[in-house]
Amino acid sequence: MDSPLQAWRDTLEELGVMGLVREPVVAALKPALPASAPRPASGPALGPTRRPAEAPPRPAPRPAPAAATAYTPPTDPVGCPPPEAVAAAATLPELEKAIQGCLACPLGPGRLKFVFGEGSPQARLMLVGEGPGRDEDLQGRPFVGKAGELLDKMIGAIGMKREETYIANVVKCRPPDNRTPSPDEARTCLGYLHRQIELIQPVVIVTLGATPLRELVGLSEGITKVRGQWKRVRVGGREIPVMPTFHPAYVLRQYTQDVRRAVWEDLKAAKAWIDRPAED
Ligand code: URA
Repeated sequence: MDSPLQAWRDTLEELGVMGLVREPVVAALKPALPASAPRPASGPALGPTRRPAEAPPRPAPRPAPAAATAYTPPTDPVGCPPPEAVAAAATLPELEKAIQGCLACPLGPGRLKFVFGEGSPQARLMLVGEGPGRDEDLQGRPFVGKAGELLDKMIGAIGMKREETYIANVVKCRPPDNRTPSPDEARTCLGYLHRQIELIQPVVIVTLGATPLRELVGLSEGITKVRGQWKRVRVGGREIPVMPTFHPAYVLRQYTQDVRRAVWEDLKAAKAWIDRPAED
């Protein structure tokens, strides 16, 4: 029962994509940039809906604390890395070294570990989440808790490995009680994410949930409305296609076949764009 094949079947079942019929590569991914890649007409056949025992209860939304505006950051270059130092970092390790002591926003002093991001420096697929949670704060790595386990399965379901991708967050330090980072906190950290994107030069960015869509792409529309629709972001003079999808934590809370299939289709569209034949 524990064979790799069984594990693969379990993963596909959990993502609600068992029993699917092989679909043609998304035809709309042909144009220069996927302005509005439509979804495939026929979705995969319905699979079993198995709710994982570990699905956490829906947390109550929490407002950003007023303390975010009262914080006085340090002025030294370690606590507050200047933009020139960020721009001068020529590799991801150099960038991490330059910013890992950051205390530029109120999240810095509260962290256990700085969560820089991880993955292949040559990743074609970059996934951007919101910010570290408890497990990530403890380990200093992005998406290692329950949401991360699901993210790994989602990546596996499109035939990729986590190590082939690059995973980062809008903010690098854990917001207290896992609240949404405030716009000020996100803005303070955004230059780091931009530099990561410039260094990695991904072919596609998948944003996970509303926060990276709002802070990185500048779109405040509801994620339910825009998921699955190609967007784009300009970073370092390059325009990069962005595929917005649900955050894995949302998928765990709304563990329906529709939600799981939506994420799977979004990731499939991203993969199809990465794999498209080179243009003449
Ligand atoms: N949620 C996120 O947005 N990022 C993580 O790294 C973990 C959970």
